[in-house]
Amino acid sequence: MSTDDYPLSTNGIVKNYGPKTTIGPISMNIGKKWIFGFLGPNGAGKTTTIRMILGLSKPNNGSVTVFGRDPSKDPERALKNIGYAPELPNFQTFFSGEDLLNFVAKLYRLSTSERRTRVRELLEMVGLRDHAEKKIGKYSKGMVQRLSVAQALINDPDLVIMDEPTLGMDPAATIYFRDLFKTLVSDGRTIFISSHQLDEVQKIATHVGMINKGKMVFQGTTPSILDAFAKDYSIEVELETINQKILEKIGQLDYIDQVKVINGKVQIKLKEKRDLRATLAEDIIKNGGRLLGMALNKATLEDAFVETLRGEIPILEKN
Ligand SMILES: Nc1ncnc2c1ncn2[C@@H]1O[C@H](COP(=O)(O)OP(=O)(O)OP(=O)(O)O)[C@@H](O)[C@H]1O
Ligand SMILES: [Mg+2]
Repeated sequence: MSTDDYPLSTNGIVKNYGPKTTIGPISMNIGKKWIFGFLGPNGAGKTTTIRMILGLSKPNNGSVTVFGRDPSKDPERALKNIGYAPELPNFQTFFSGEDLLNFVAKLYRLSTSERRTRVRELLEMVGLRDHAEKKIGKYSKGMVQRLSVAQALINDPDLVIMDEPTLGMDPAATIYFRDLFKTLVSDGRTIFISSHQLDEVQKIATHVGMINKGKMVFQGTTPSILDAFAKDYSIEVELETINQKILEKIGQLDYIDQVKVINGKVQIKLKEKRDLRATLAEDIIKNGGRLLGMALNKATLEDAFVETLRGEIPILEKN
């Protein structure tokens, strides 16, 4: 595939912020209908990379292609099809949420009737209908984040780039937006999201990439990354009753390394990194166990993140 086949490609982009701070070179190809989770510790270079992608900050080297165009050379055309929700949006506090959306809609040259419909739809979509006329200065943190997502969708973009969009959202809103992002993607869009909420990213991202000190340290499909960082596989088993006899029987199976009971569930470590749930289920039933449920545990994105930074003190790099 050529880079034109990807909604978004970066080819060795570099930003130099002085002798000690270099972000890049970063190369990535983001495919259609992906949700790409962009991870990295504070100061790693996520926002800088996003700003280079959008043409808001010119790379010192390398190039960006968004739908076949370079946003820094032809911003108006390249950005027509992109939505952007910035980190810590700094909206005019004397605007209401509705004013802000109307303003952004005008920038995108939506007609008056399109604007009216779109603004109403988006306020509804992000749950701000009842706060449409309230001044942004009086919005809560989560409301500002919701508005930021809404303004990113005003032009019905094919690529949506969001820098920490669910930061400050309550748990119900987080779940709602998780579903909203999945719907946007199933309708054919592509989402690029930077986040520190690793459990959230693990739930929605089809692909992840992590940067550290300005360099990409891993990227791939979410399952392949979780697999690569898994030291072992374990299966969590829920039984109707746990007794010594069944635990011993499980422990004697040739593919089992260790059996422990934690919080009323049996945690079974496997000798190999293989999904042996079906075999284990059969063996438990054969040995008289009454199985209520089981789940395979590989690594988590948190494991991958922490493992990558192992040995590094989590303080900010000096510039
Ligand atoms: N305009 C700037 N001028 C000089 N240095 C900058 C500028 N913007 C960012 N930096 C530096 O570049 C590095 C990367 O910053 P960036 O904001 O991209 O990190 P980030 O990964 O988004 O972090 P966070 O998770 O905290 O949002 C930091 O060392 C930061 O101080
Ligand atoms: Mg940032």
